[in-house]
Amino acid sequence: MFEHIDFSSIDVTAPPPAQEPERQYYFIAKAKKLLSVKSSEIGRPLTAMVKTFGCQMNERDSEKLRGILETVGYQPTDSEEADFVLYNTCTVRENANLKVYGRLGYLGGLKKKNPHMVIAMCGCMMQEAEVVDKIQKSYRFVNLIFGTHNIYKFAELLVSALENDRMIIDIWKDTDKIVEDLPAKRTYSFKSGVNIMFGCNNFCSYCIVPYVRGRERSRRPIDIIREIEGLVADGVVEVMLLGQNVNSYGKNLEEPVTFAQLLQEVEKVDGLQRIRFMTSHPKDLSDDLIQVMKNSSKICHHLHLPLQSGSSRLLKIMNRKYDKEKYLEVAEKLRREIPDLSLTTDIIVGFPGETEEDFQETLDVVRRVRYDSAFTFIYSKRTGTPAAVMENQVPEEIIKDRFDRLLALVQEIGREMSSRLQGKTLPVLVEHVNEQDDALVTGRLENNLVVHFPGDSSMIGKTVDVYLKECHGFYYIGEPAE
Ligand code: SAH
Ligand code: SF4
Ligand code: F3S
Repeated sequence: MFEHIDFSSIDVTAPPPAQEPERQYYFIAKAKKLLSVKSSEIGRPLTAMVKTFGCQMNERDSEKLRGILETVGYQPTDSEEADFVLYNTCTVRENANLKVYGRLGYLGGLKKKNPHMVIAMCGCMMQEAEVVDKIQKSYRFVNLIFGTHNIYKFAELLVSALENDRMIIDIWKDTDKIVEDLPAKRTYSFKSGVNIMFGCNNFCSYCIVPYVRGRERSRRPIDIIREIEGLVADGVVEVMLLGQNVNSYGKNLEEPVTFAQLLQEVEKVDGLQRIRFMTSHPKDLSDDLIQVMKNSSKICHHLHLPLQSGSSRLLKIMNRKYDKEKYLEVAEKLRREIPDLSLTTDIIVGFPGETEEDFQETLDVVRRVRYDSAFTFIYSKRTGTPAAVMENQVPEEIIKDRFDRLLALVQEIGREMSSRLQGKTLPVLVEHVNEQDDALVTGRLENNLVVHFPGDSSMIGKTVDVYLKECHGFYYIGEPAE
């Protein structure tokens, strides 16, 4: 395991080993030496920050990047006025992408003031050739660019960036590799994301993720369980199992395992209190999974089940592989089997060719399923996806109007659904001291709703029974139960 490595005993004058993760341990040892020399030259410790754009998978990747940076000797900071700044980017919608260019201009200014500053970029945006071209042309001050497939090589790339003045670019098209046993620095002491699979094979026609994250690969159950046991030994009580489509977990393993079977193994880990997962594709949601969720004392009764559209016609063009009826059937079965389940979703408005009639179908599903909350997105054209070249793109004003109507409905129903727990006493896992009022702490119910109640920092990471006094839309004000 990584924790037991003695980096000072690694001979960095010898050539690097070919095998992973030993090769990365070698480069960690090398980076450690380079940094300690640099830090004594300039007479102060060096600092590093990683900024994350995008989804939970990127958040988890950033924890791994921070793990390397801290192991090699950087002091963590939240400020971009640091000696090493790494942006872990997202490109799922155009605005995610534009945000990064805006911040990058600002970083260029900071670098002029700090000659020791190293700027690096990674993540999904870097898998797009146009992006890398643009950075090479217009942002010459960037030192290192790498992608999603070779992120495990970060220590090695860091050494190249520290030893070279020119821009280092290393992007792979795809990989079948999964490298285990590298460090991670968690954002929260008591909860953690755990990757169970990487990539996506679904090719929904609007979505860029399969192009930038590559083909689906599952981690072996033994590696996942070992990681979770290690996390629990280190104080973690809640895990979020991560994948673009967790319901197809394990299909391509040498010894195939289903997601429901994996969950049963995770459930057995002593000391673990809560299990969450994300994201479930409706096309692969099995009856076994519903039964395992129903009978588990640890799996949270919360399911994120992206709808995208309620129109069967559009779902077909989106390549979602289910129709309105199938989705409603799954939702009804879930409600019947697990009555206290909280259901949330993702919806896209303005997919090419969306008519008012299609949109009404979406509103109809929202009314019938009654989501606790929903992320609503305006369709964003992503170069290289089939939808980007569809001719019937919907005009902006129409999309805006539909978006507002959808949001109003989603919020109205979400408020009603959230308030159904008022007056109950339920366990809350405390996450942090309230940002506005330090006499309060903030935590989450099993169904993911936020609760604020009187408390102090000694409660962080603990589960407390809380009386849910008042529902304020999407959060509760509570009181610790007697
Ligand atoms: N794998 C997950 C979703 C990952 S992306 C799933 O299939 O459910 C998260 C969400 O972003 C998607 O559910 C979708 O609603 C939204 N999204 C993806 N591509 C988009 C695009 N081109 N425009 C707008 N929203 C998009
Ligand atoms: Fe994108 Fe579809 Fe894969 Fe989700 S399942 S990541 S929406 S292609
Ligand atoms: Fe964005 Fe990549 Fe996640 S495109 S949503 S960070 S997989």
